[in-house]
Amino acid sequence: MNIIKASSYEQMSRHAANIIAAQITLKPTGVIGLATGSTPIGTYDRLVELYQQGDLDFSGLTTVNLDEYCGLAPDHPQSYRYFMEEYLLSKVNVAPENTHVPSGNTDDIKAECRAYDELIKAAGGIDLQLLGIGHNGHIGFNEPADHFPKGTHSVSLKEGTIDANTRFFESRDEVPRTAITMGIKTIMDARKVLLIASGAEKMAIVDNAINGPITPEVPASILQLHPDLTVIICED
Ligand code: F6R
Repeated sequence: MNIIKASSYEQMSRHAANIIAAQITLKPTGVIGLATGSTPIGTYDRLVELYQQGDLDFSGLTTVNLDEYCGLAPDHPQSYRYFMEEYLLSKVNVAPENTHVPSGNTDDIKAECRAYDELIKAAGGIDLQLLGIGHNGHIGFNEPADHFPKGTHSVSLKEGTIDANTRFFESRDEVPRTAITMGIKTIMDARKVLLIASGAEKMAIVDNAINGPITPEVPASILQLHPDLTVIICED
């Protein structure tokens, strides 16, 4: 495990973007797993800058996102598809048909979960997966549980996650209660994992995840077993 302590959110974002940029440069036709949330916004801004400077080419790349709310159309401003378009995908030269976000807006969630895992496999697996971490240790929408879910699946969000995500909606009632997410095995199968966390309030859970016992009660703790994990933290 490689732990990098950044001195600011901006430095964390630049480090993360550099690692992703190096991966894209080394394997331009690879597969990058993406996350949403407030933490990766600076990383995406920096990747867009690198693209605009002519230093990065996304044209051969495939992207797969970790998760999506159920019941929100892709053009809903709080959907993760919308987020990705706004912060990264529409601003770089990735081919739209090679960008994937699981669809939570379907009648057959099980079929969508199966199809998403198959899609990742058919693309050759994830070369680098970017992750944020929730206050309860969730990664993607893999919430604390009594087991580690394997493949892509649907989940009921924990009250704390609904609380944390209310800031993006007009009211708490509007936050979807279910979501679709890559499973822990899907994430662990990525050849590299890059976890980023910023803010003093995240440091206890990051410490618990990387130094504490490996338990599905702290889903991110499984990352201790990943052979190529980089964690970038910044306390403020
Ligand atoms: C989002 C995701 C979540 C977030 C986590 C942290 O795609 O996978 O696990 O990474 O909830 O969110 P922020 O960055 O908003 O603190």
